[in-house]
Amino acid sequence: MDYNREYYTNGIVQLDAAKQLMRLMPRQADSVLDVGCGSGKVAHLIYEHILPNFMLAIDSSAEMINQARLLHPDSKVMFSHQKIEQFVSNQSFDLITSNSSFQWFQNYDASINALKNALNPRGVFVLQTPYKQNWCPQVSVLINEFFTRYYPELGQCFTLPCMHFDDPEQYADLFESKNFTTASLVTRNFEYRFTGDDFRKFFMSGAYKVYTHEKSYSVAIPDRFAEDLERFVSQKVINQSVFAVTISRVLACFKPHI
Ligand SMILES: C[S@@+](CC[C@H](N)C(=O)[O-])C[C@H]1O[C@@H](n2cnc3c(N)ncnc32)[C@H](O)[C@@H]1O
Repeated sequence: MDYNREYYTNGIVQLDAAKQLMRLMPRQADSVLDVGCGSGKVAHLIYEHILPNFMLAIDSSAEMINQARLLHPDSKVMFSHQKIEQFVSNQSFDLITSNSSFQWFQNYDASINALKNALNPRGVFVLQTPYKQNWCPQVSVLINEFFTRYYPELGQCFTLPCMHFDDPEQYADLFESKNFTTASLVTRNFEYRFTGDDFRKFFMSGAYKVYTHEKSYSVAIPDRFAEDLERFVSQKVINQSVFAVTISRVLACFKPHI
């Protein structure tokens, strides 16, 4: 499985959540920055919605940016391989978006400072990110079965590598401590009855990365682990036709103090 190459078709929930996030975006913005744009599907959705004069989309993964350029050769969105933590620009942006990427940022102080510096003082930052440590109970059940059957010791060494506050207000507190005002903050549960194939796509778009990430474990991951996990999920989807899944997300809009 190639996470970066397959993300474009696998990111089902991220796309649905982005459609909800667009409700928090201003209808007009001259300049837009999308942070953690992945292979660019959501960035284009945002572009089509706002039609800005200038849009930059950055991602810390060179492979994702390559995919974005490959899949959208005539794009009006400028794709750039950059980490938000080190982002500096002469341009200030009216709108900055982060859809399903914030949880992966490695340094929140540096990231939020960079966002603030890049934002027009009258601009807005909109965020969609998972919350709750147990972000999808059905995935937890599945993964517990996998660990118990095949990797019981490794399972004991797992910790979530990305930020998922359990209380949505903690996102407001974080941004308010960095001189932002919370203009709106809502939580949404996304409910699905996935077919086996769509469940596999959904799993590969997020959970797979979480559970195969070296930072998720206090010990080294065995060589065959990722392959075994993928085979386990593929086997499950052959044996079960419907997967009822609930995913919790927080959607928020923050404005810098003027
Ligand atoms: C789940 S994908 C989301 C992609 C897209 N925004 C979407 O909604 O489909 C998360 C992306 O964030 C990127 N990312 C993670 N940390 C980042 C950072 N510090 N700076 C910029 N991008 C980052 C990852 O490389 C990945 O492509």
